[in-house]
Amino acid sequence: MEKSLNGKRALVTGAAGGIGAACAKRLASEGAWCACADIVRPQQTLETILDIGGNACGFAFDVSEEKSVLAAFAQLEQEGGLDILVHCAGIIQEQPLLSTSAEAFDRVIAVNLRGTFLIGRESIRMMQESGGRIILIASDLGYSGRETYSAYCASKHAVLGLVRCWAKEFAPDVLVNAICPGPIETDMLSPKNMSAEWRQKELDIPLQRFGNPEEVAALACFLAGNESGFITGQGLGINGGSIMP
Ligand SMILES: NC(=O)c1ccc[n+]([C@@H]2O[C@H](COP(=O)([O-])OP(=O)(O)OC[C@H]3O[C@@H](n4cnc5c(N)ncnc54)[C@H](O)[C@@H]3O)[C@@H](O)[C@H]2O)c1
Repeated sequence: MEKSLNGKRALVTGAAGGIGAACAKRLASEGAWCACADIVRPQQTLETILDIGGNACGFAFDVSEEKSVLAAFAQLEQEGGLDILVHCAGIIQEQPLLSTSAEAFDRVIAVNLRGTFLIGRESIRMMQESGGRIILIASDLGYSGRETYSAYCASKHAVLGLVRCWAKEFAPDVLVNAICPGPIETDMLSPKNMSAEWRQKELDIPLQRFGNPEEVAALACFLAGNESGFITGQGLGINGGSIMP
């Protein structure tokens, strides 16, 4: 049976995490060959893809380290290039401003912004002649502010800035969009990353539930496919109504 992404080559970062794993599985189930990257090799995601008859390979690198990123892209180029990027790697930090150290701020910016810059730049370099799709996972906090999350909010606002610039710079060959999720049930919302108080507040949205990673993956798959060919430079909300710009 003809699948929507047959013959396409995708890179998914953050592929060991909730949204990244769901995106990698979804793209692979639609026929894409999928390079799955995370700070450690995303073994479980790879095994699931192989179990469903998909094709995948694994990478381990820190998205904020240029040398490791370049090495991974050199390998990807040798293996046949890239048509789709779904960039999910990211970290969150709940911290009142007055107790936020410069180092803690820098780390969020390094992973969420510098990482997006490096991965996006190298993906576009590979796609600029053949064309392709860049899908960055930003956040509904890329549009709004939230007390005690200033580094994270700033990084996600900046990701939307990259989307708008790259969409213009590389049109019409490379379409560049962001997905801006509201609360999605993953490790990022677990007690280790978010206080119980904030987790509770996250539910104060019209649809009164967390989203699930598969709902985000369905949107990523749409943006990666032929039916979204007139969408570029956008931040698409998937958020239960948390933000209505
Ligand atoms: N879960 C939510 O509610 C939510 C809402 C809005 C946006 N997002 C965004 O979605 C993306 C995916 O988050 P998630 O919810 O799946 O969280 P997650 O914690 O489950 O996954 C994030 C993944 O990124 C990887 N990662 C972190 N730092 C890295 C680095 N330096 N190099 C390589 N990989 C690294 C982690 O190992 C992890 O597997 C993030 O960018 C996040 O900001 C999540």
